[in-house]
Amino acid sequence: MQFAKKDILDMESLSVDEIALILDTAQQMKEISKRPVKKVPTLRGKTIVLFFYEPSTRTRTSFDIAAKRLSADSISISGSASSLIKGETLVDTARNLEAMNPDVIVMRHFRAGASHMLAKIVRTSIINAGDGMHAHPTQSLLDLMTVRENKGKISGLRVAIIGDISHSRVARSNIIGFIKMGADVVLAGPPTMIPKGIEILGASVTYSVNDAVCNADVVMMLRIQKERQNSFLFPTEREYAMVYGLTMQKMKHAKKDVLIMHPGPINRGVEIAPEVADGPYSIIIDQVTNGVAVRMALLYLTAGGARNVDAD
Ligand code: CP
Repeated sequence: MQFAKKDILDMESLSVDEIALILDTAQQMKEISKRPVKKVPTLRGKTIVLFFYEPSTRTRTSFDIAAKRLSADSISISGSASSLIKGETLVDTARNLEAMNPDVIVMRHFRAGASHMLAKIVRTSIINAGDGMHAHPTQSLLDLMTVRENKGKISGLRVAIIGDISHSRVARSNIIGFIKMGADVVLAGPPTMIPKGIEILGASVTYSVNDAVCNADVVMMLRIQKERQNSFLFPTEREYAMVYGLTMQKMKHAKKDVLIMHPGPINRGVEIAPEVADGPYSIIIDQVTNGVAVRMALLYLTAGGARNVDAD
């Protein structure tokens, strides 16, 4: 199957076959990262712009490493170091970047819809690295890859996503991604952090973390996104941790082969206890490793690299 998409903007616009192709390609790419020389010439001569208007550790670094492992040239620009602070609009910035003929622009922006707008006005491929509370498709793809690798499948699994659902682009992309790939998704957290009507996406809702944990094959914990909250949604962090945090006590109700995930950054002792984050069920570090592989696959598929990785 040839990948025909110009942009990667959200999980809604990817078909089941396209997601499967991305995950299969990422699995091949992962092997490159285990070689003594972790570099192939697949994207030699291609230029990737990493345009980040919001802080990032994992996404930005893994895209940069992914580009370099495929021999592409990558250039990083941050919002504070760009001419945006002199009053240039996002559209003008994008048109000026396009005039330099990059092959892919990877963008993170604090406003929902920023990547979609850019994708409409430039010919360059756009990869959404997170837009406001809306979408984080590359995180969802690496989460799908990590679950498939550990469980051998996605379809039929029960995935619990717990925490600040309202403000999480990771939650939104993963609800859509996991349901599309055949999993059941249950959401849990404080009623103040679960949007009314979210069930329309196909997920079920419980306000009991114990209920969510005891039936789940996968438990994904989310950080409280304080930077996107404009009112107090819980009394104190200590009380939040007691009721909604994943502790060893709550893990007693979990299945013996449950997988614990977190997109990062973690607030240890708030949404997840350190012993759980670092414990035997945790695949949080695997998620980060697979982030490089998924982003290599996405750059390869959108920048039109050679179709056979091994041939390089
Ligand atoms: N998961 C995630 O997007 O992490 P960063 O904000 O560090 O990129």
